[in-house]
Amino acid sequence: MSENERAASRTAVLVCQGRAAADGRTAVGRFADPVAVRLLRAEERVRVDEVRAGTPPRGWQARTAYESVRACAEVVGARTVAIDEALRARPAGQLVILGAGLDTRAWRLAELARTDVWEVDHPASQRDKRARLGAAEPAPVALARSVRFTPVDFAADGLGAALDAAGHDPAAPTTWLWEGVVPYLTRDQVRATLRALTARTAPGSTLVVNYQTPSPKATAGRLLARLLGSSATAGEPWLSLWTPRQMAALLTEYGLRVTSDDGLLAVARTLGTPPRHRTSLDSGRVAVAESG
Ligand SMILES: C[S@@+](CC[C@H](N)C(=O)[O-])C[C@H]1O[C@@H](n2cnc3c(N)ncnc32)[C@H](O)[C@@H]1O
Repeated sequence: MSENERAASRTAVLVCQGRAAADGRTAVGRFADPVAVRLLRAEERVRVDEVRAGTPPRGWQARTAYESVRACAEVVGARTVAIDEALRARPAGQLVILGAGLDTRAWRLAELARTDVWEVDHPASQRDKRARLGAAEPAPVALARSVRFTPVDFAADGLGAALDAAGHDPAAPTTWLWEGVVPYLTRDQVRATLRALTARTAPGSTLVVNYQTPSPKATAGRLLARLLGSSATAGEPWLSLWTPRQMAALLTEYGLRVTSDDGLLAVARTLGTPPRHRTSLDSGRVAVAESG
């Protein structure tokens, strides 16, 4: 299978399971994702229901998958709060979600009523999402002004040309959201994507980027999950990790000024429940950068 023919992202499903498990359980009042569960297939909902009920399954393979969803619920709860609050603080007419996966913001954030949303993703993942949206019951209703699906393989395709073809206006301010994608790209692919997006970044634009910092414990945890047969992360290894200093230097190089950079553990501590999965939270960050 060539890079462009690869399968739909499994990690996108895992984070969607995490959001479905966290809905109504984590940070109520600051986090809600009632749409996530509707994008999951019946067999994917089983682990979500177990996590919500706090009833771990028998058997090590099922138990590993259960623990992945449970840990993911805590991480994506904090990550979603940090990102949603950043987006609400900076309403823009255009929102481009890079590596959108099963992101539900266009269907759950009423604040996007005057925003056109471009969902950019690998063609295989995007096909899968559109099939899930088509099968969802009840069908999610977009709250954003429009949603435009834009297939792009960051490893092979031109982001700029794809956005041009999809009607994105480079002269108008854009909020760029890059959540849960940077670690899956090489440093060169991260730079190429930044180059393409900053070439279409008008004054008044913002980039909200979630990235992973180097963490021997988090890397060992992913390796262990892989060895134990967690199929969600097995085919999608981390390819680039960045310290906050490296990320700030990178964004500055592309003309963006970092205005905040928060660790997810610190965000999780504001959510009311003492964090359990400290290693995963500790290595995730959300930075906000403004155009010059
Ligand atoms: C962990 S998922 C995150 C999805 C979503 N942003 C979220 O947080 O729910 C990673 C996403 O990155 C996308 N991705 C990874 N490598 C990519 C590439 N080379 N080109 C386009 N998308 C890619 C996958 O298709 C997938 O949707």
